[in-house]
Amino acid sequence: MKNRRILVTSALPYANGSIHIGHLVEYLQTDIWARFQKMCGHECYYVCADDAHGTPIMLRAQQEGITPEELIAKTKQEHELDFADFHIEFDNYHSTHSEENRQFATSMFAELQKNGYISTRTVTDLFDPQEKVFLPDRFVRGTCPKCKSEDQYGDNCEVCGATYTPADLINPRSAISGAEPIQKENLHYFFQLSKMEKELKEWTQSEGLQPEISNKLQEWFTDGLQDWDISRDAPYFGFEIPDAPGKYFYVWLDAPIGYMASFKNLCDKRDDLNFDDFWKPDSEAELYHFVGKDIAYFHTLFWPATLMGSGWRKPTSVFCHGFLTVNGQKMSKSRGTFIKARTYLNHLQPEYLRYYFAAKLNDGVADIDLNLDDFQQRVNSDVVGKLVNIASRCAGFINKKFDGKVTDQVRVPNGEETFQAAADKSDAIKQCYEERKYSEAMRLIMAIADTANQVIDSNKPWERIKDESNRTEVHQVCSFGLNMFRILIGYLKPVMPTLAADAEKFLNTSISWQDLDYGQPLPEGHQINKFKPLITRIEQKAVDNMIEESKQDAAPQASDPVDAEIKIDDFAKLDLRVARIAKAEHVEGAEKLLQLTLDLGEPTGGVQRNVFAGIKSAYAPEELEGKLVVMVANLAPRKMRFGVSEGMVLAASGENEGLFVIHPDSGAKPGMRVK
Ligand code: MSP
Ligand code: ZN
Repeated sequence: MKNRRILVTSALPYANGSIHIGHLVEYLQTDIWARFQKMCGHECYYVCADDAHGTPIMLRAQQEGITPEELIAKTKQEHELDFADFHIEFDNYHSTHSEENRQFATSMFAELQKNGYISTRTVTDLFDPQEKVFLPDRFVRGTCPKCKSEDQYGDNCEVCGATYTPADLINPRSAISGAEPIQKENLHYFFQLSKMEKELKEWTQSEGLQPEISNKLQEWFTDGLQDWDISRDAPYFGFEIPDAPGKYFYVWLDAPIGYMASFKNLCDKRDDLNFDDFWKPDSEAELYHFVGKDIAYFHTLFWPATLMGSGWRKPTSVFCHGFLTVNGQKMSKSRGTFIKARTYLNHLQPEYLRYYFAAKLNDGVADIDLNLDDFQQRVNSDVVGKLVNIASRCAGFINKKFDGKVTDQVRVPNGEETFQAAADKSDAIKQCYEERKYSEAMRLIMAIADTANQVIDSNKPWERIKDESNRTEVHQVCSFGLNMFRILIGYLKPVMPTLAADAEKFLNTSISWQDLDYGQPLPEGHQINKFKPLITRIEQKAVDNMIEESKQDAAPQASDPVDAEIKIDDFAKLDLRVARIAKAEHVEGAEKLLQLTLDLGEPTGGVQRNVFAGIKSAYAPEELEGKLVVMVANLAPRKMRFGVSEGMVLAASGENEGLFVIHPDSGAKPGMRVK
């Protein structure tokens, strides 16, 4: 058979969150496939990277009080550890915030421009008039137009799930300055996909794409290909567009280019690998991307367009999978089913999940369900009850009675036929793996395990061993069992690599697909090692504990983490004063605000301040008048919709627990400093 050269990728996980079991559907699906290809003797590379750019990552870093570079370095380490502990074996794991990626992104963009695919045009964007910057959707906050929840992002509401544009928000505010955004003309870069319609259509009709995806693509073509907006304005974490100061490549432009960057990074580490062999348009190597159905659009349209328009090859195919549900429902934090990779590993072995996902996965895009009862039952019955049971029933006798040596004679009743039939399934199982019909492969494999157990059951070595005259038969049936086990482990090796490695040690032989094709039993007198339990049953307690830990992970943090440290000098900059509320009034048209006139008293020379305070939900004006409060007296005046606000009043507030204005103890006088 021709030796294939294959490059495989999984989607690049965002660098602002942990890997969870939903992600693992994809990384395990790909890992099994890549391991299978390697096991067949093909040249196969599996590369991935963290997707490090974009607004959410910038915001997350801000929240944590660290730089985006620090955040992505920390996350990459965590991701790599999670993947390694699930035995996901990348040939390279890189980052989109890398020099290789910058080079590819800029050179490919230049090529697209040269080839006439890039246009520019002005668009009306929201602009922070105070900070003088354009505001990405996530930098605008305001009241949800649908459910009226306050303080929601500019692109979607976290309370009711509505999606909208920042212009739809009620009372929109810049998340940077708090100022009301204005609309302003802004230049954007566009990828004119429609100019490539013919080539794209051709690509999407090429064989290899899943029918569900081809159909979806057809719809997109019918709706007409829109220009794709590929620029974003500062502040942004990404790559600046050359000769366009303050403009950045939209994260989805450089993210898939990260596949190339990661492979380039691998090639640079090795002498025997040539980047162009895999990426030039005439390349004979195969290129496959495994992705979730949510990002099919990016991978089957934008990505091939980017590649074609800049003179590179197209993917051989894009393999889409569905989403994971747990117990039939979307993963849920409150139900404890939003399970992080690490939380799982704290309680259960990775091989269980690898097997279970394999038993569920096929080549379609339907969602797959992890039913936790079924998970436990299925793994215990298939892996422990059927598979490992074969070895544990036979190994003891071989070790104790036959010096640990097997015989190549498996002439027990039905033994030879069963053994041959198992070996003959090799091609069918291979085909299942190749076509990503893993559930069918697992079904075939477990059916073979059933036949092995039947032969052992009917030959009853544990009874026969009591009579010395049956010695030969017992030797044969136990050797038969171990040979069957060896074949089964070989078939399962892409799915359960550590179980396979342990089995190889115990059987004292390496197991590869080539050896299995011949259906040759282990040679006469082959010495095995002592049998140690290879895998244990899943205990209910372990599953329960995992759910409990996930619930706690997700519980609203009892501690609201303290903000990043400041220096005493930063604090000293605040001029906090006691003030008397001279007047408190409603503001016409304002939902949250009261207008306060604050009297700062003698020490300040009788200064008065006009302050708009968002405390209307908790106080009526008349209960405030005459009260003493603490105010930030040296805050720069801010222009708001209803007038200029000249300071701030301190108040305590919790998540949904009301609002409490801070009053100094009795005896304090207006104008006193608060330190
Ligand atoms: N960063 C982008 C991908 C860029 S690829 C050039 C992204 N990241 S992600 O972290 O949100 O998702 C990574 C992969 O995991 C995607 O293919 C996504 O479909 C998959 N999954 C995320 N949650 C999932 C489930 N609950 N179930 C199955 N797959 C899921 O998208
Ligand atoms: Zn809402």
